[in-house]
Amino acid sequence: SSSKLLIKGGTVVNAHHQEIADVYVEDGIIVSVQPNIMVGDDVTVLDATGKYIMPGGIDPHTHLAMEFMGTETIDDFFSGQAAALAGGTTMHIDFVIPVNGSLTAGYESYTQKAKKSCMDYGFHMAVTKWDEVVARDMEIMVKDKGINSFKFFLAYKGSLMINDELLLEAFKKCKSLGALAMVHAENGDAVAEGQKRMIELGITGPEGHPLSRPPVLEGEATARAIRLAGFINTPLYIVHVMSIDAMEEIAKAQKLGQKVIGEPVTSGLVLDDSKLWDPDFTTAAKYVMSPPIRKLGHGKALQAALSTGVLQLVGTDHCTFNSTQKAFGIDDFRKIPNGVNGIEERMHVVWDLMVESGQISVTDYVRITSAECARIFNIYPRKGAILAGSDADIIILNPNSSVEISAKSHHSRTDTNVYEGLKMKGKVEVTIAGGRVVWENDELKVIPGSGRYIKMSPFNYLFSGISKADAAYLSSLKAPVRRFRDQS
Ligand code: URP
Ligand code: ZN
Ligand code: ZN
Ligand code: ZN
Repeated sequence: SSSKLLIKGGTVVNAHHQEIADVYVEDGIIVSVQPNIMVGDDVTVLDATGKYIMPGGIDPHTHLAMEFMGTETIDDFFSGQAAALAGGTTMHIDFVIPVNGSLTAGYESYTQKAKKSCMDYGFHMAVTKWDEVVARDMEIMVKDKGINSFKFFLAYKGSLMINDELLLEAFKKCKSLGALAMVHAENGDAVAEGQKRMIELGITGPEGHPLSRPPVLEGEATARAIRLAGFINTPLYIVHVMSIDAMEEIAKAQKLGQKVIGEPVTSGLVLDDSKLWDPDFTTAAKYVMSPPIRKLGHGKALQAALSTGVLQLVGTDHCTFNSTQKAFGIDDFRKIPNGVNGIEERMHVVWDLMVESGQISVTDYVRITSAECARIFNIYPRKGAILAGSDADIIILNPNSSVEISAKSHHSRTDTNVYEGLKMKGKVEVTIAGGRVVWENDELKVIPGSGRYIKMSPFNYLFSGISKADAAYLSSLKAPVRRFRDQS
């Protein structure tokens, strides 16, 4: 294929604007966006008449090649990204997990894992313990390694979880570095108690998973993280918002003027927990993720919160384990590796659920699947836009075609699919990554090693303004000078 590409006659959609135009690409960069671009015959021409030309999806939340719960995710940086490209996602941000608590060792390890990448990617970093070395390494990550966000786990007691004391230290560090704090919000101590209860009741199957960690534990941890971030006066990003309880805490804080970003994930928007009661273990276990997929009604409420802006962008938490790995928990739901697929399905599910249903506009679709993520992580408009000068990460979506999701046809290495059988209106017919057509006519043309690491710089603009806590402190400096009472 040529390094010169013209996409003709489609509706170009950005988060702010849409218009009928052509898009001309050279050497991986969008050169111009305007009607009726004329080119020579050395240029590959794609006809997009009647279709949408949009920025490729950016998935803010994935776990590729992650060691977790005694095993490693079945999708690595190549297979997970190939699946992403087949579904219209052209970039993702993966969570580096420290090695024995070391951030720098984690960074080196993930840099190696990501060498086989076939699309662009960035990193967040998980922080799972606290000491001087971790604090220093956070600074190295932000200043030298292109990481501007850190994830803290209030769940997974005994492995990834940190306590409030450490969370406060970490928030302070994020604030001073201009990095964004992200939180997995479930009360890990209460989850352990809930799990104990289930085992005592003899409930050992996958249904014990949602029963042991109800929405109230997500609501509590979300509220706590929000209040502590507000106390430190640093912005907060709540990952995988799965319940009304958590969403309402975010809405409340935003109303009070606090900078809180809420990320629902594909599974939480479209699925409900009924399948966890399926008598077939493999079927039920594939839905086990944390926080759990909730009862019917939570997903609808999260969709509504996306359409009103309480939640700003959609991730997947793509974290795949095959049936053999899920079977580690055949006798005890606590040992089922947590995680579901979604990197390939997100763009289609969100289109059908949100746009086709009339809940949001096409420009909003671009915002919640791509542009907002690029803005939050400071890579806009290089990513997340169809503008002259942007990277040529582009999809062509046909709103009149459709897809049926199945493990039989998906590109992930896992052998099940939590969206099995869903028929989604709208189809990503072409994916262009870095100026190359990588998905066309239901065929992938991916090259390991062609993906680039996208460095993300700190974003101090989020930290302007003064919090109520800081205002109270400043006014306390002007407190009256107190004298001892007159002794006479
Ligand atoms: O179940 C999940 N979500 N697995 C991935 C790890 C995490 O908490 O994001
Ligand atoms: Zn325009
Ligand atoms: Zn998490
Ligand atoms: Zn995750």
